[in-house]
Amino acid sequence: MIGIDDLAMATGGFRIDLAAIAERLGADPAKYYRGLGQTEMSVVAEDEDIVTLGAAAALPVVERAGREGIRTLLFATETGIDQSKSAGVYAHRLLDLPPNVRVVELKQACYSATAAMQFAAALVARNPAEKVLVIASDIARYELGSTAEPTQGAGAAAFTVSADPALLALEPAAGVFTEDVMDFWRPNHRVTAIVDGHSSISAYLDAVAGAFDDYRAQGGSAFEAIDRFCYHQPFTKMATKAHQYLAKHAGADVPTATLAAQVDPTMGYNRRIGNSYTASVYLALLALLDDPTNLTGERVAIASYGSGAVAEFLTGTVMSGYREQLRNGTNAQILADRGQIDDDTYLARQRIMPRSDPSNYSNQHETRGPFRFAGVRDDQRIYEAATPR
Ligand code: CAA
Repeated sequence: MIGIDDLAMATGGFRIDLAAIAERLGADPAKYYRGLGQTEMSVVAEDEDIVTLGAAAALPVVERAGREGIRTLLFATETGIDQSKSAGVYAHRLLDLPPNVRVVELKQACYSATAAMQFAAALVARNPAEKVLVIASDIARYELGSTAEPTQGAGAAAFTVSADPALLALEPAAGVFTEDVMDFWRPNHRVTAIVDGHSSISAYLDAVAGAFDDYRAQGGSAFEAIDRFCYHQPFTKMATKAHQYLAKHAGADVPTATLAAQVDPTMGYNRRIGNSYTASVYLALLALLDDPTNLTGERVAIASYGSGAVAEFLTGTVMSGYREQLRNGTNAQILADRGQIDDDTYLARQRIMPRSDPSNYSNQHETRGPFRFAGVRDDQRIYEAATPR
């Protein structure tokens, strides 16, 4: 049996209520709260980036698992900070991992953490004594003033894949789907993504349905035999849309209330964090596991989508005793501890990027997380442990 042994999260140090940006964008706050299913979004502190968020998410996992069994670190992100060096190598040092670890970064929009999980499972199948650490970390940024702006966010999920997992045992069937579409992308010269919003929703639905069909062809369970569904959540209403679409596509006769109960408990964290791209589906899984309902033995689907586009659909079963491995209180605290900011403060923060001199700058000490991105000196990024604040 191979699967997810431990799972933890981190997010940006600030949050903005979406009502605070609605007036500037000429929208009714209800459009964001109900229409998109988002109440707020996380905003990173000046000295936070994908490395500090990813390492912060991974720290409790590494401390609990012990550093010695981890021989691979896979860092999944689409918020690339360097064209060559993996963000994972910085995280490896911050986490004080031993030198005998292979480290690599993976990219395919919001999908790559799921590819990382599958590669991790293959490594563990070859040597069941090893654990693989997967870090998924992203900061979602769109043009200010665009209709995509309320679907920004920032977050990281970190998990270990091992034999004899404590949380979720992965089932062997997995369905995959790839199609070259231009629904969302970020050219190297840009700090914000380019997106064709409505066509991205259609591309997502088509790809998830294609991955589900392949999952069935590979011997995967019928829709009705799956208890819960964790979808990639660029905004949480997307999970509802995808679930209704997939139920119809699969010809499943499931009452509306049951469909809602299968996805609603996955949305609690993403509704408040916003889009965390490749971390999002694992934050959906974490919210589900942290829900008070006892899920032992339930079959849970992970429906992963990355624009461009690649999708994967797979399932796992929740392990007995999984609750002892959770950190519900800590996760609630992480969300509560974020400082609330108004629209002017948020706009000023967003406008810091791109820097006038990207080769040399210092960042103020703002983060309350364990690590900070102190700045760039002669084109070298400087990361350090943060003193508690
Ligand atoms: N009260 C309640 N609901 C309201 C409302 C009000 N006053 N006004 C509007 N709404 C509802 C609308 O009816 C709509 O709901 P339905 O889709 O269920 O009908 C919802 O609010 C959104 O309204 P619009 O479609 O008019 O919104 P928009 O055109 O302004 O933009 C968006 C929405 C396309 C998602 C845009 O925010 C965007 O481009 N976001 C980024 C792209 C994205 O997230 N795509 C998702 C799929 S791609 C992917 O998943 C990868 C990824 O991470 C990016």
